[in-house]
Amino acid sequence: MGIQKRLVGSYVVVIFLTVLILEIFLIVSVRFYYFHNVERILMNQAELSASFFQQYFADEDLEKQSDRLLKGFSHNSDAQVQIINLSGRLLQDSTGLHDDNNMIKYPDVQVAIQGEPGIWKGKDPSTQEAILAVSFPLQVNDVTVGGVRFVTSLTETFNTVNQITVVLICVGMLVIAIVTVLGLLLSWTITRSIKDLKQAADRMTEGDFSKRVPKRYQDELGSLADTLNMMASRILKSEQLKNDFISSVSHELRTPLTSIKGWVITLKSNRIDNKQLLHEGLDIIESEGDRLTRMVDELLDFSKLDNGRIAIHFAPVHLPALLHHIGRQLSPRATRQGILLEIQVDETIPTIQADENRLKQVLINLIDNSLKFTDDSGRILVHAHTTLGQVIITVEDTGSGIAEEDLENVLHKFYKVDQHTSGSGLGLSISDQIIKLHRGELRITSMVGKGTIVHIHLPI
Ligand SMILES: Nc1ncnc2c1ncn2[C@@H]1O[C@H](COP(=O)(O)OP(=O)(O)OP(=O)(O)O)[C@@H](O)[C@H]1O
Ligand SMILES: [Mg+2]
Repeated sequence: MGIQKRLVGSYVVVIFLTVLILEIFLIVSVRFYYFHNVERILMNQAELSASFFQQYFADEDLEKQSDRLLKGFSHNSDAQVQIINLSGRLLQDSTGLHDDNNMIKYPDVQVAIQGEPGIWKGKDPSTQEAILAVSFPLQVNDVTVGGVRFVTSLTETFNTVNQITVVLICVGMLVIAIVTVLGLLLSWTITRSIKDLKQAADRMTEGDFSKRVPKRYQDELGSLADTLNMMASRILKSEQLKNDFISSVSHELRTPLTSIKGWVITLKSNRIDNKQLLHEGLDIIESEGDRLTRMVDELLDFSKLDNGRIAIHFAPVHLPALLHHIGRQLSPRATRQGILLEIQVDETIPTIQADENRLKQVLINLIDNSLKFTDDSGRILVHAHTTLGQVIITVEDTGSGIAEEDLENVLHKFYKVDQHTSGSGLGLSISDQIIKLHRGELRITSMVGKGTIVHIHLPI
């Protein structure tokens, strides 16, 4: 069953039940009110007549006075008035029609002759009309001498009550109809958005990320549409990045391969007696081989990181020793580039739990960046100290710096400010992931033309 049917269905059922209960309550109340009202009026009139008799006619004979009494009693009433004697004979009738010797057959008369007010609802034996009869005893000094009976037709009341009932039922049905239409409209607005989303999702499954889902309302479905749209543009962007990456990687791989091949050809064609040339060529082949290895390692690392498959092997690491070691490893390159590489380490830094190889990888990445983006006679300072239960390592250079708009992107994979610089744009992304796996944080501050500082915070 579709959402629309479910929504409207449950909605209508609830409203229908509510209307039904309300209607039943209203109809019962209206009936009770009308019939009770008629009853009360008759009762009042009968009681008034009985007490009128007691006050003014008590000394006289009921049968002789019945004519005058009837006039008095029926004066203020539209109802049929009857006067009955103790034996149940009808003495007077305001309609003047009846001559009935056995009024005792009516339950209300029976009760009245015994001295109590009686009430009876039933059918008129001659006309079969629904009637209400109220009888009151006529008493002289607390002794019952007869009864007065007020009879009224209930047809009018039934008609009124039925009319009201019909109106109430019509109103109820109207309410249900309006609610159903509103419910259909409302659910249509929902299902329409859902259909849009479904269509868009279907298109995305087929690999088409170009179309966007229309956002119809500012609601949960609207934000779902936003999310879907955002997802589509991210996927598009990462496709783009992937393509860029493949072309840049191919290019990167090609450069060392070309140089290796070039040297191999040179060495093959020359005679081996030129030892210096041989050495030079082999050196270059070796270093290009290393470069290739490093690049492939980075790529492997990256794909592992991307799949969350990178493993961190925590072990005690003595940071000062590690930093000095890296310094010694990279200083020949720094010297070659005419850059001053300084390591300033607080020797009292306690050993921390970390993955030494991964940490080394991060630091080499950072210093490599600094070396890459700093001109000769520049300076690179690696500094480490502890504060507030954290080790803070900074790699600071006096290089080209990174513009503010690029700063937030350099941590993204494959991002390079200048596409022509060597490297795959993965170094910082990998470093950031590794530091995060150490529950630490990597932050970059930089100023164009002044230099860059990378801060690493590691918990002790
Ligand atoms: N110290 C720095 N000074 C200036 N720019 C920097 C510095 N470090 C990083 N960048 C900028 O950030 C980009 C991304 O750096 P990242 O280390 O991620 O990649 P890469 O060095 O280009 O390639 P890889 O490290 O994978 O060989 C660099 O291309 C460079 O534009
Ligand atoms: Mg780098």
